[in-house]
Amino acid sequence: MCGIVGYTGKKSAAPILLNGLRRLEYRGYDSAGLALSTEAGIRVEKSEGKVAKLAEILGDYEETPGLGDALTGIAHTRWATHGPPTTINAHPHGACPPGGGEAPRVVLVHNGIIENYKTLKVLLEGEGRTLASETDTEVLAHLVDSYYEGDLQQAMTKALAKVTGTFGIVCMAKDEPGVLLVARRGSPIVIGLGEDETLVASDAAAILRHTRQVVYLDDNDIARIEGAEVEIRSLDTGPVTRHPTEIDWSDDAAEKGGYAHYMLKEIFEQPDAIWNTIRGRMDADRGNAVLSGLNLNPRDLADLRRVLVVGCGTSLHAGLVGEYAIEDFAGLPAEVEQAAEFRYRNPIVGARDLVLSISQSGETADTLAAVREAVDKGALVAGLVNVVGSTIARETGRGIYLHAGPEISVASTKAFTSQVSCLLMIALKFARAARMSRERGMQFVREIEAIPELVRSVLATNDAIAKVAERYAKAEHAFYLGRGYMYPVALEGALKLKEISYIHAEAFHAAELKHGSIALLTEEIPVVAIAPEGPGKEKTLSNVAECRARGSKVVLVATEGDEEVDGYGDDVLWIPECPLHTAVIPATVALQLFAYHVARVRGCSIDQPRNLAKSVTVE
Ligand code: AGP
Repeated sequence: MCGIVGYTGKKSAAPILLNGLRRLEYRGYDSAGLALSTEAGIRVEKSEGKVAKLAEILGDYEETPGLGDALTGIAHTRWATHGPPTTINAHPHGACPPGGGEAPRVVLVHNGIIENYKTLKVLLEGEGRTLASETDTEVLAHLVDSYYEGDLQQAMTKALAKVTGTFGIVCMAKDEPGVLLVARRGSPIVIGLGEDETLVASDAAAILRHTRQVVYLDDNDIARIEGAEVEIRSLDTGPVTRHPTEIDWSDDAAEKGGYAHYMLKEIFEQPDAIWNTIRGRMDADRGNAVLSGLNLNPRDLADLRRVLVVGCGTSLHAGLVGEYAIEDFAGLPAEVEQAAEFRYRNPIVGARDLVLSISQSGETADTLAAVREAVDKGALVAGLVNVVGSTIARETGRGIYLHAGPEISVASTKAFTSQVSCLLMIALKFARAARMSRERGMQFVREIEAIPELVRSVLATNDAIAKVAERYAKAEHAFYLGRGYMYPVALEGALKLKEISYIHAEAFHAAELKHGSIALLTEEIPVVAIAPEGPGKEKTLSNVAECRARGSKVVLVATEGDEEVDGYGDDVLWIPECPLHTAVIPATVALQLFAYHVARVRGCSIDQPRNLAKSVTVE
């Protein structure tokens, strides 16, 4: 999820663009750049690193001819998806016809993923075009340029008809100074309406200082902007009317997209984040997953003896789901281990083992050390990582990027559900290389593709969950119970509660409670039990009955319409009906919201809890 800003009007564009980028940088970007329309053509400046470094490069732009008086420009902070965070991969990206020299004719910035960029790149190179970067965005710039005959709107319309994937784009042409072309499919774009100027951004936070009158583009909208003139069309149906709205958020709230905390914003981003994780990686016809980044063909999988999953914290909990799913569906031995434990116990691992390292940040010291130990022992190593170009991603050399977008809140939410979605795709791929039939694989693909909607159903119960949470906000201890696929859900739910509300929450395998820990139970300790429809539910309900017999209040996570759970929960968090292996995700989302609201009622510092860091880069 990148940051985009555009300006055209009567003021110097450079400071407006730089300040707009600074308002977006909070989401942890890795490179930045801008392009200004000047007398001498379009001037592009970009660099890896933060916006401050870009500002340094621009130096005293007021005194630099062509920079200070440039009245139109576009700018970008990059969250790398294709190609590591380097200056050459930074946006904006420009293009000119083959042999057209260095000065770009068309320049654009982009937020999203062009899924067919490799095919387009081959075609464009076949036309004699030279592309310098590893990005999908540069392909887009050349595609637009390849259709450019003096009308940027026409060129963009033709180019976008060839594109599959998502985009939020702002584009300029050397021969059309003062004009911005903007288009959106799947990545938000907001247009800020000024007196005699117009701003564009991926996020309202970047333009609030200039105007609160905004227009949000819909998917497949394209807008031509010149000064204060904004003309919006649909790429499908022609001219459309999009009515302006007034933003009444505070500046601080605007940085969080109108949510009170990044954690809540990221919880609500999960349907889109999960869709971005699975998009382009499901082959419905063959009932399989397409995970080219793993670089493992069915022959390689046939040689695999075992999968070891290593991670820490939330990533470790996701790994446990992966262990269950890989054994359950692929019949391949799998085990998950805390990364620090793995690295120090001289693990028995070798060439026929796949070590799967899971890490949102890609920088967790213990997980990185586990990767290095596995590499030294000759194992196959792969990464399940969110941050492109991170150390673990680079050192494993193969794996799957989550594409979940930046996760700012220390408490991991969308990374977990994206990790689990990835692990289900891996289980499918391994299963189809073993005994899973194409028909069952096709059904599995449908089950995975249904996950974003399952999450939306739970998000719609946010207010009900908030009411339940308020009743438990004074607890000082809490037990979480689950079995089978719901055991990692109990672990993750307990971690969420303790790390943001500071309530001492402990997760148990539901069957384990009676082997000692139940001695702790009193009516002061609520129990959260995860018992959706499926194998193991009845046994967990029996464990719940044992807890109720000791006077504990019970918050049950159960399947909508399941009357068998009546009487077991003092409160129930409902999730939609779905198979257990996918129920992990809606059940976890319910517990994320439960933890969030408990912490909110307790007045805790939700996004930056005490003692915690977003990435634990020390042992
Ligand atoms: C979870 O909410 C915490 N932020 C923490 O447990 C985290 O999952 C763990 O430190 C691993 O981080 P990683 O995924 O970036 O490796």
